[in-house]
Amino acid sequence: MGNHSDGTPTSSDAVAKAGHDEVDKFQDPGLPPHRLRLADTDPKAAKRAEHQVAWLFIISIVGTLIFFVGYFGVRLDDTLDTLRLQNTFLGIGVAFAMLGIGTGIVHWARALMPDHEVAEERHELRSEEDRLAAIQIIDDIVDETGIKRRPLIRNTLIGAVALAPLPAIAIFRDLGPLPGNALRHTLWKEGERLSRDPDGTPIRAADVTIGSAFHVIPESLNKLEHGKLNEKAKAVVLLMRLNPEDLNPSEGREDWAYNGIVAYSKICTHVGCPVALYEQQTHHLLCPCHQSTFDLTQECKVIFGPAVRPLPQLPITVDAEGYLVAQSDFHEPVGPSFWERG
Ligand code: FES
Repeated sequence: MGNHSDGTPTSSDAVAKAGHDEVDKFQDPGLPPHRLRLADTDPKAAKRAEHQVAWLFIISIVGTLIFFVGYFGVRLDDTLDTLRLQNTFLGIGVAFAMLGIGTGIVHWARALMPDHEVAEERHELRSEEDRLAAIQIIDDIVDETGIKRRPLIRNTLIGAVALAPLPAIAIFRDLGPLPGNALRHTLWKEGERLSRDPDGTPIRAADVTIGSAFHVIPESLNKLEHGKLNEKAKAVVLLMRLNPEDLNPSEGREDWAYNGIVAYSKICTHVGCPVALYEQQTHHLLCPCHQSTFDLTQECKVIFGPAVRPLPQLPITVDAEGYLVAQSDFHEPVGPSFWERG
């Protein structure tokens, strides 16, 4: 084994030899030569970089302040314009707050902190000697960052880092108070006409063809003077028409549909996105946020995704003029699941 009959090496030998030679040829290239940066040799350039880093931290502070101006300063008045204005302030504020800190730290590290390469041996960190060495390394790092020598950077960094989490605290505050009865009642009531969103024109049952879907609001919504956005957010409904034989109503719900026309809350029971996609062939409703899928033929039972409750159904019928109307409000709270539902 190893040679052909004519004395030439077998191919496996040739490969092994070639690989061995490659290993022999490989040499540790070592660390690249250290190149000094402008700030390493020119104190003015170092000062300039220090100011740039401080400015980036100040931009972060300004970003946080912009967030609070939007959060506390913009009064929401039931119009989309104020909502958009506030969201613009919040978005720009958080973006500047995070970008300022991030780019400031990166610039600081690249321009001012020592950038010499260090090779560290790997071994277990057990002995007291190792522990002291580790502490020494941390001390060296703190020392090398220059944070003690550069109070301008230190102070602006402290300001930026102290302020940056405050928007999150403000947003968490909005998780309360508990919804209480707010999600239990909507504008729907007996005789309330179903109308098209957004123009509010009422819908005749005869106009709803099999396979069609409508985005629906209560007819009285557009007449509201206050709280329109909130009421709309709770009352939006999807209306679809199927073959009546495709529906499988449970006991007590047999008359909640009219001639195959069914109405379900459009607010996803996961975290409240609008369920806006209707798959006509499969009779599935899809939430675009996290792909929860609801089966219309099974009273919008969840068949896929993170939602755990079916979409609440709105019982409907027609009035004397043939317009679709609600029989009552929803029989359960709409929207995401929350504690204290029972
Ligand atoms: S909000 Fe609908 S799946 Fe998450």
